Amino acid sequence: MKYKSILITGGAGFIGSHVTRLFVNKYPQYQIFNLDALTYAGNLENLSDIESAENYTFIKGDITDESFVNALFEKHKFSSVIHLAAESHVDRSIEDPLSFVKTNVIGTMILLNAFKSLWKDDFTDKLFYHISTDEVYGSLGADGLFTETTSYDPNSPYSASKASSDHFVRAYGETYNLPYVITNCSNNYGQNQFPEKLIPLFINNIINEKPLPVYGDGNYTRDWLYVVDHAIAIDLVFHKGKHEETYNIGGFNEWKNIDLVKLLCKQMDSKLNRVQGSSEKLITYVKDRPGHDLRYAIDASKINKELGWEPSVTFEEGLKITIDWYLDNSTWLKNVTSGEYQSYYNKQYS
Ligand code: NAD
Ligand code: TYD
Repeated sequence: MKYKSILITGGAGFIGSHVTRLFVNKYPQYQIFNLDALTYAGNLENLSDIESAENYTFIKGDITDESFVNALFEKHKFSSVIHLAAESHVDRSIEDPLSFVKTNVIGTMILLNAFKSLWKDDFTDKLFYHISTDEVYGSLGADGLFTETTSYDPNSPYSASKASSDHFVRAYGETYNLPYVITNCSNNYGQNQFPEKLIPLFINNIINEKPLPVYGDGNYTRDWLYVVDHAIAIDLVFHKGKHEETYNIGGFNEWKNIDLVKLLCKQMDSKLNRVQGSSEKLITYVKDRPGHDLRYAIDASKINKELGWEPSVTFEEGLKITIDWYLDNSTWLKNVTSGEYQSYYNKQYS
């Protein structure tokens, strides 16, 4: 068997939990190890349905702990890595850039070194799959799309740290022949996303009838993809993607923030049996994010042509599933918005 022992990093986070679930359920022949430090963004409740699966092991640990990571690779001889662990929120990166360098750059380096040390004499059937973001390409104007050959031009400490880690992965491929693949995906939404990102933060605030803080004039554009479709794309690239290549993943689904927020308000009013228009009244324009990228939009034609991938749900459908999940999982939402969340929220939005 080609990939028998797979290390997924950051599997207790938002996207990582969907990828871990898909691999554990779909591939009983693989042993899946989930390494996660359980930071504020990591939550084992995200994986309660698979925690006792025979082919699944959770390991609590930090990817920046070099001796721990080396010992883990020696012990389990991971034949492949799907690397998602990261600090992932732009606003937090503006407050504390160094922690993004530590996890996203140094942590990736430590994993690369451990993988290289283990297999350097024979990389046959091995793979280091690095999950990245479209934000490394910087900001688009009104026209155009990011392709796999768009130059890197990151603007936030978050995107700079992800760009740096992408460069190191590619450099290890060139220098040491380490087999890798990188995917750069657009904004994800869906179940289990921590409510610091736009969609779950606004769902939570609408439920609680709190202001909806739209940055600047709200005319910023993002390309939204349902998280399960991202997980499906990761499965495809992992098994069929060409090594030493990059694939862009996106939803062909651009929305201006303010239009998205209005759609969300409409759907939430219907779901909560509130008078249409009541959630929109919560919209509050607040101070803009420094260095705010105007527009992201992905050209996902390479993955579509080569691997036949395309999103499986429309945005309206995905958003409905997402809203239903947050309304049905109020305990999850309450648990993650207690404690540290409150102090973050007060600092960010006061
Ligand atoms: P997330 O913040 O929800 O989860 C990150 C996970 O990594 C958490 O479980 C956290 O505990 C873990 N983690 C953080 N630091 C760690 C460390 N030092 N050691 C071990 N584990 C650690 O993030 P997400 O939104 O699921 O993003 C996952 C990956 O996908 C990231 O690499 C991100 O850059 C990338 N990505 C995210 C999006 C998006 O829209 N969310 C889009 C494209 C790419
Ligand atoms: P976010 O979900 O943080 O993702 P990213 O910054 O990685 O794209 O933000 C999505 C968009 O929503 C972005 O343009 C910033 C904007 N935004 C707000 O207007 N208000 C908010 O409170 C947040 C968190 C984001």
